[in-house]
Amino acid sequence: MCGIIGYAGLVGGAAERVYEGLLRLEYRGYDSAGISVLGEGGITTIKRSGRVSCLEKAARELGGNIAIGHTRWATHGAPSDVNAHPHNCGVFSVVHNGIIENYSELKEELAAQGKKCVSETDSEVVALLADSLYCGDPLAAVAAAVRRLRGSFALAVLCSGFNGFIAVRQKSPVAIGVSSGAYFAASDVPALPDEAEDVYFLEDGDIAVVTPEGIAFYDSALNGQKRISCRILRGQFTADKGGYAHFMEKETAEDARTVRDTAEAFLRSADVGGIANLLKGADEIIITGCGTAYNAGLIARRYFEEALCRRVSVEIASELRYYPPPSGKNTLVIAVSQSGETADTVEATLRLREGGASVIAVTNCGYSAITRIAHMVVPVCAGAEICVAATKSYMGQLAALYLISRCTGDVAAAAEELEGVAEKLEEVLSQEERAVALSELFAVSFAVFFLGRGLDYDAAVEASLKLKEVSYIFSDAYPSGELKHGTLALVDENTSSLIIICQPQTAKKSVSAVHEVLCRGGEVAVLTTLPDVARELEDFLPVWLLPPVEPRLAPFLCAAALQRTAYLTAVRLGRNPDKPRNLAKSVTVE
Ligand code: F6R
Repeated sequence: MCGIIGYAGLVGGAAERVYEGLLRLEYRGYDSAGISVLGEGGITTIKRSGRVSCLEKAARELGGNIAIGHTRWATHGAPSDVNAHPHNCGVFSVVHNGIIENYSELKEELAAQGKKCVSETDSEVVALLADSLYCGDPLAAVAAAVRRLRGSFALAVLCSGFNGFIAVRQKSPVAIGVSSGAYFAASDVPALPDEAEDVYFLEDGDIAVVTPEGIAFYDSALNGQKRISCRILRGQFTADKGGYAHFMEKETAEDARTVRDTAEAFLRSADVGGIANLLKGADEIIITGCGTAYNAGLIARRYFEEALCRRVSVEIASELRYYPPPSGKNTLVIAVSQSGETADTVEATLRLREGGASVIAVTNCGYSAITRIAHMVVPVCAGAEICVAATKSYMGQLAALYLISRCTGDVAAAAEELEGVAEKLEEVLSQEERAVALSELFAVSFAVFFLGRGLDYDAAVEASLKLKEVSYIFSDAYPSGELKHGTLALVDENTSSLIIICQPQTAKKSVSAVHEVLCRGGEVAVLTTLPDVARELEDFLPVWLLPPVEPRLAPFLCAAALQRTAYLTAVRLGRNPDKPRNLAKSVTVE
């Protein structure tokens, strides 16, 4: 959701370093991009609508020691050259990730002083405001401007005549990596160059002044702050396709490894007793997240309900933040987020915590906003996930949530079960001809419905999201019992239905759904772990028989099969699965 970069180094090539960082950060937004470089004659800016690569030639020519850059996911104003960042005014050049909520009032106020915005963005007001408050001290001007801003923002600011840049964090992430002779700021760690091993994570309200000689941290009143850097293991964060055609392909191939690493980390470091006490002591348990993370919560709810013999709720974070439960006291919130920075998940969790709830965060990013809110953090060990569509992180979320749900019982046995799952995931990915056949069916369908009951329905919800976001084929998921309550009206020869049948207790019911769709002329395929079901259906429709597994663990296998199928469908239709249109990774705005 927009990415910002800043660079301050003793040697030249700043624009090129920023350009390379933007390429690594492009998954956060890819409708336009720009770079500003500080030179002796002032600031030079290049910005264009389109992909980061359109800046390559100019970036190689610009040089400089200090530069900032931006890759955009439009919120205010269409993707265009003029709306691209950086935005300049007077001595300032600004890149911004987030939303300035009071930009309209500020725009009016600045216009009355004769300072007019040229773009339709909310971000441009930051440059205008800083310039209007400038009396020769760039830090004072930026801090004064920040005090006037409402909303979420990560900023990198250049000021003509000042040999450095200023970075600001308010609810949108900023990491600053240090290598010898250079400082590098970015919205996400994978955008930092490999040599920047020591990383500072700005706190909300921080202002960092970064020069080639060092960093100083302040709060918005300009009181000095002490921040401690962390050493980051670079291997964990590499943003490299590793020989695969796309990140999505590489990342789905890492599903099994993610389950193993997540289980191993849990056994090594989780406070099993502490988690068990939270589970046993809570009056209410709420799992929350957005998108795929929410979908992992749907599966997890069944795990918790089975293990604890009680009701557990799963709430979409963007709803929960405005419609919290009446009493927050003695509530346990399990907040699930790959990035740990999703604005709605962070805000919903914060609100419940402020009302007295305990919080367990399940996240792939150990230094994220959600970890600062949580009482306890359970890591998902997926490593850097660059494809916008979540794949291996979902697998890791399922593994972590499964282990949390087993904390009142035998966690070691649950981890062993997950080792078995990991082996089967490798088997699923070797059933390539099945995924190819299914992708051929989906690619010619006007719409694809995913159906199932119980955990199979929960798995269907994620499968549907994955297919629609990377292939742009209309898709939805339904409990198969709901078909005749409306959805059946949509079934015809141009639609396909994928029916997931892995829960023995409702298998017969789901087989009936197969027949209901078939006799209305719809295309049907079945995904099952149950050999009996496969035998019954395989003579008259495509059946993908997955390796046998405990029914409650079947969602792991379904996800791997359907992630791969979604990928193949997208590629077959000529889509770029890594960068679906209109989407971006890390939704740091509401
Ligand atoms: C879908 C997808 C999104 C994210 C959602 C939450 O493939 O990637 O739906 O799952 O935006 O993101 P995190 O997990 O970072 O909070």
